[in-house]
Amino acid sequence: MNLPLKYLSNLPAETEQIAEEFGSMVSCGDFILLKGRLGAGKTKFVSGMVKYFCHANDSGNIVTSPTFSLMNRYFCGRDKSNKETIIDHFDFYRLKNVYDLENSGFFDSLSSDSITIAEWGDKIDFDYTNIIKNYYFEVSITVKDADSKFTEENLYREIIIEKK
Ligand SMILES: Nc1ncnc2c1ncn2[C@@H]1O[C@H](COP(=O)(O)OP(=O)(O)O)[C@@H](O)[C@H]1O
Ligand SMILES: [Mg+2]
Repeated sequence: MNLPLKYLSNLPAETEQIAEEFGSMVSCGDFILLKGRLGAGKTKFVSGMVKYFCHANDSGNIVTSPTFSLMNRYFCGRDKSNKETIIDHFDFYRLKNVYDLENSGFFDSLSSDSITIAEWGDKIDFDYTNIIKNYYFEVSITVKDADSKFTEENLYREIIIEKK
């Protein structure tokens, strides 16, 4: 697949499906930054990725935003190359300072073989990209309105996936 990729999603299940497809491009040591307003579907996207890596039928019940703990860890078993896959899912919406960041395990995760995913990673105001072990992907989810009426049913998502 060639990057950047651009998708339209009309349903939460479509966002999950797009994330599952993207999962096949991701490997251990990669970092994925998720951008988008509250309710854009960032956590839904993570849920699709966990579904892909953990071979779960319905990850909807297990993937929730780690808003208070800052990080949720998913042990996904072995991947194609028999490597143990761990997904570290961060949400920095409530991040207060660099001590919280340090304590969250973010730096450890980035420099490890885990797949690191961060919602609101753009709230971190210094450059951590040099410790990313493998590739750095950015996923931007934008809520759009199909027409000017702007009800929830008229909203769809544009999802852009880039490699930094
Ligand atoms: N196309 C879509 N993709 C993802 N979520 C959608 C979509 N359409 C509606 N939704 C709803 O929007 C919400 C997204 O929630 P969530 O994934 O927690 O967002 P975020 O983590 O960005 O705050 C869910 O309630 C979901 O059902
Ligand atoms: Mg979220």
